[in-house]
Amino acid sequence: MAVPKVLLIVGGGVAAYKALELVRLMRKDGMEVRAILTEGGSHFVTPLSLASLTENPVGGDLFDLTAEQEMGHIVQSRWADLIVVAPATADLMAKAANGLANDLASTTLLATDTPVLMAPAMNVRMWTHPATQRNLAQLKADGVAFVGPDEGEMACGEFGEGRLAEPPVILNAIRARIGRDDSLKGRHILITAGPTEEPLDPVRFLSNRSSGKQGYAIASALERRGATVTLISGPTALPAPAGVTRVQIGTAEEMLAACKAALPAQVAIMTAAVADWRPAEAAPEKLKDKATRTTIELVANPDILAQLAKDGPDRPALVIGFAAETEKLIEHARGKLAKKGCDWIVANDVGGTGVMGGDANTVTLIDADGEEAWPRLSKAEVAERLAERIAKTLG
Ligand code: C5P
Repeated sequence: MAVPKVLLIVGGGVAAYKALELVRLMRKDGMEVRAILTEGGSHFVTPLSLASLTENPVGGDLFDLTAEQEMGHIVQSRWADLIVVAPATADLMAKAANGLANDLASTTLLATDTPVLMAPAMNVRMWTHPATQRNLAQLKADGVAFVGPDEGEMACGEFGEGRLAEPPVILNAIRARIGRDDSLKGRHILITAGPTEEPLDPVRFLSNRSSGKQGYAIASALERRGATVTLISGPTALPAPAGVTRVQIGTAEEMLAACKAALPAQVAIMTAAVADWRPAEAAPEKLKDKATRTTIELVANPDILAQLAKDGPDRPALVIGFAAETEKLIEHARGKLAKKGCDWIVANDVGGTGVMGGDANTVTLIDADGEEAWPRLSKAEVAERLAERIAKTLG
């Protein structure tokens, strides 16, 4: 798949500062980004910040001689796979809904047939005003997609609907709209992600540092290839990827039950960092600070990967495990391939490089035929490669 290209239009609102975070997330996700900053937007963020983060010149002026010699507003919108307006102010929405074209941003929006995604942000009264709601309905009828706004406390001190959707949520909405194909259409794929939490009592639990980022990125990459994706997730801070069915669980036993309930599936990918052990019993009341007991008795959790990989009518055609190792990576991972009975193991070295919770991963894919060492990639790129390999294997 080619590198996704996004043209970001930043409107003039307090939330414009969040557009910088959005650019950072898009770049990390492997997208190429160009930006247009409206006059209003330039009062909140500088062209230099946007240019530095996008690593591209920033458009601002419709009558910029150099840019418009090449018809900048037309070229930019043709270049992009998607135009994102964030924050989409009441003014930008009104212009776009009525076909006004009196600055670079509005002219670009009028001069394009590239899909547009708007993330509105404005005061709650402006948002609920009949004029804005009319413009919203018109833009939707014109085929513009929307993400947010959220409800919450606003910069102006009021509370209500009108907050810019959080950048990770906007990123998901962007991902869902670009780089799509049908290579996994009709396939149901089951993914586990994140940590599990094994309770000691109602307020304490045993868990681990898994962020869920790799599993979520894989879920998104598969969904964009047309797969029906069920993501069984332990507690994470991540929003559900667009178009994916997320089932949230706490313990390993709940994860196993949710996996079984989601079968049949053609592919199962187990990225979750499942706790191998759980406290033998979870106290019904909070354990007392001065308790004399200083040891925790543990019992083994079910191995979800091994259970799904067992032969049987419901066994997915392709079962993929992950192996996080800190030493003898390949040897240990190959051992797991055999022990668990899965078809592929994605081995990653988590020794001291900040892989857990981080954004990059260096993995080796191991199957019965051999090994494939991948270079250090972002987790999003690992997800893309894995999704492509799965699509090729299923044929
Ligand atoms: O044995 P280890 O925990 O290193 O195995 C890692 C692989 O097994 C991962 O794919 C993980 O999701 C899966 N696993 C599991 N259930 C467990 C333990 C691990 O599905 N109880």
